[in-house]
Amino acid sequence: MIKFIIRIFKRFAWFKRLNAKVTYELLAKKIPAEEWQFMNYGYVPNDNEKPFDLPLPPETQRYSLQMYHYLASKKEIEGKHVLEVGSGRGGGAKHVAGVLKPTSYVGLDLAQSAVDLANKIHKLPNLQFIQGSAESIPLEDNTIDVVLNVESCHAYGSVDNFLSEVKRVLKPGGFLLLVDFRSVENMDLLKKQLANSGLKLLEEENISQNVVQAMEAEDDVKQERIKKLVPERWQKLFAEFAGVVGSRLHTNLIKGDRLYYRFVLQKAG
Ligand SMILES: C[S@@+](CC[C@H](N)C(=O)[O-])C[C@H]1O[C@@H](n2cnc3c(N)ncnc32)[C@H](O)[C@@H]1O
Repeated sequence: MIKFIIRIFKRFAWFKRLNAKVTYELLAKKIPAEEWQFMNYGYVPNDNEKPFDLPLPPETQRYSLQMYHYLASKKEIEGKHVLEVGSGRGGGAKHVAGVLKPTSYVGLDLAQSAVDLANKIHKLPNLQFIQGSAESIPLEDNTIDVVLNVESCHAYGSVDNFLSEVKRVLKPGGFLLLVDFRSVENMDLLKKQLANSGLKLLEEENISQNVVQAMEAEDDVKQERIKKLVPERWQKLFAEFAGVVGSRLHTNLIKGDRLYYRFVLQKAG
């Protein structure tokens, strides 16, 4: 019954905004563990993609980091001004800012507690995290070369508002690199929203199987992390949220009832 009511409420923009704010504020406040730095489901590269071979500390969420590495590698980042919308706990921002060497990298997130945590644990001269909404980005027009958006826009009240803000802050010729999941019906809606955004769609790829592989490859470590960091009474709910093997998302991605896509868009030059 509660699940049904939440599904109905999720059709309202105000509820989606409130839900995202409360959920992600609580997550960073209640579980401030510095070793948990990513909140995406991860990506296992295709055989024809060059493996990412930098040595990583053992506690790194390797596949979630790879999601960032492969998305950000789709366009030149070095020497550019990068904005990430929905930067969460900041692990991806730290990786891209450190390894791909943009001039500046701003991580924007709705949750102040996530921003505070990210600013505390990731310190690089070209990196900062600020609080704000994807639907009202606190930056000047035409100032950003590349916007990154990793598994975040499903939570926004209005994806149209977000896309119009991305178009406003991007410099002419700038890029939006986006990955996210949806039901089949809502992925069609997202594609329409992207087509109507005024940005040009350059690439579109279904990466659902790469995400499923990542979920499966990291499952043991993820289950251990949940046991260690999450209070016992929340562990079952959290395991669903974290996409463990057998969770609804994992099962639906395999069945094709949920889809996970990557998109590259460009603002006219
Ligand atoms: C699933 S997490 C992904 C975080 C990060 N991209 C990663 O991969 O680790 C989604 C993030 O989007 C943020 N978010 C949700 N709605 C937002 C909004 N309207 N504006 C900015 N950030 C938002 C949440 O606070 C959360 O940190």
